[in-house]
Amino acid sequence: MSRTFNVAVVGATGAVGNQMLEVLAERNFPVNQLRLLASERSEGSFLEFRGEEVMVERLTQDSFKGIDIALFSAGGGRSLEFCPVAAKAGAVCIDNSSAWRMDPDVPLVVPEVNPQAIAGYSAKGIIANPNCSTIQMVVALKPLHDFARIKRVVVSTYQAVSGTGQKAIDELRIQSGELLNGRPVECKVYPHQIGFNCLPHIDVFLDNGYTREEMKMVQETVKIMGDSGIRVTATTVRVPVFYGHSESVNIETEVKLSAAKARELLAAAPGVELVDDVANNLYPMPIDAVGQDLTYVGRIREDESIDNGLNLWVVADNLRKGAATNAVQIAEILAARYL
Ligand SMILES: NC(=O)c1ccc[n+]([C@@H]2O[C@H](COP(=O)([O-])OP(=O)(O)OC[C@H]3O[C@@H](n4cnc5c(N)ncnc54)[C@H](OP(=O)(O)O)[C@@H]3O)[C@@H](O)[C@H]2O)c1
Repeated sequence: MSRTFNVAVVGATGAVGNQMLEVLAERNFPVNQLRLLASERSEGSFLEFRGEEVMVERLTQDSFKGIDIALFSAGGGRSLEFCPVAAKAGAVCIDNSSAWRMDPDVPLVVPEVNPQAIAGYSAKGIIANPNCSTIQMVVALKPLHDFARIKRVVVSTYQAVSGTGQKAIDELRIQSGELLNGRPVECKVYPHQIGFNCLPHIDVFLDNGYTREEMKMVQETVKIMGDSGIRVTATTVRVPVFYGHSESVNIETEVKLSAAKARELLAAAPGVELVDDVANNLYPMPIDAVGQDLTYVGRIREDESIDNGLNLWVVADNLRKGAATNAVQIAEILAARYL
């Protein structure tokens, strides 16, 4: 019989944790024992996994005894405190928060781009899952970079509220209902109304005027692609979409890359689906990406304002490829090659 693994899902009751359970089941990950962990608010509640009810336990220092793989999505504070605890107990942590991403001893992995980095897990027992907007962008950029060497990326994002978690999904739903009925809205999650609005503000503002989300895209892209020659600038925007992040990406390459060649490269790239048939009004949209694991790329055009430039539109489900699917893909490689 092939090996099975004891798996803990930390933050199992959240938007990402929920998807984590679905993806583990769908991909038939060889789970032996499953431990679901969350805060004391959810202690004793039940979640379904493969048709069975599993009780949610409170996250404590003793939660990781006998666990082989711990999937974390309970916020940076919990990851900072509990990943080392889990690693000490013998588990390998795959962390969805930003807590460990830029640690030089922690690999930051997108399986379609740098699966070889997983080998570095043994330094701290932690592997970081990148930011959701970064994951889908690098999946699309990797085949283009390999062919034409990307020098510069200018990206603007259109990010769904599910990227902020379950409370933000509820806020958009409630605000939309209130606004359609002509009633005033209450803003609890975001500083302004998100219903029928756009907020050029994701995560906190930093001293350089960028948001932390924008700087994550800058720094994480370089670490994952393993090329400090790639310069990135980002504007990240929250839009009133429930699920699925979209990105307008402009790249400048060292070698000339035609739109036709880019389409050919992307059509053959792992994890990518090319949707680029404007004659039939076909291009990627978040409503089509929901529940899917692929990154959709379209609207490919040569940038006529520079010599070697290209514009792309990139869409993926932020809770799936942007979080849960990417983490489970990492777990699959870890289980098959390293554990
Ligand atoms: N949403 C995305 O697209 C996305 C993408 C990539 C990464 N991430 C990252 O994934 C993490 C979770 O995001 P989310 O969107 O799933 O948020 P969420 O829906 O708000 O869920 C948060 C989860 O964390 C748990 N939690 C909160 N405080 C806790 C504590 N003190 N002890 C134990 N568990 C605690 C919650 O448990 P209770 O139900 O008991 O409160 C819940 O299960 C964040 O670090 C986020 O940055 C999110």
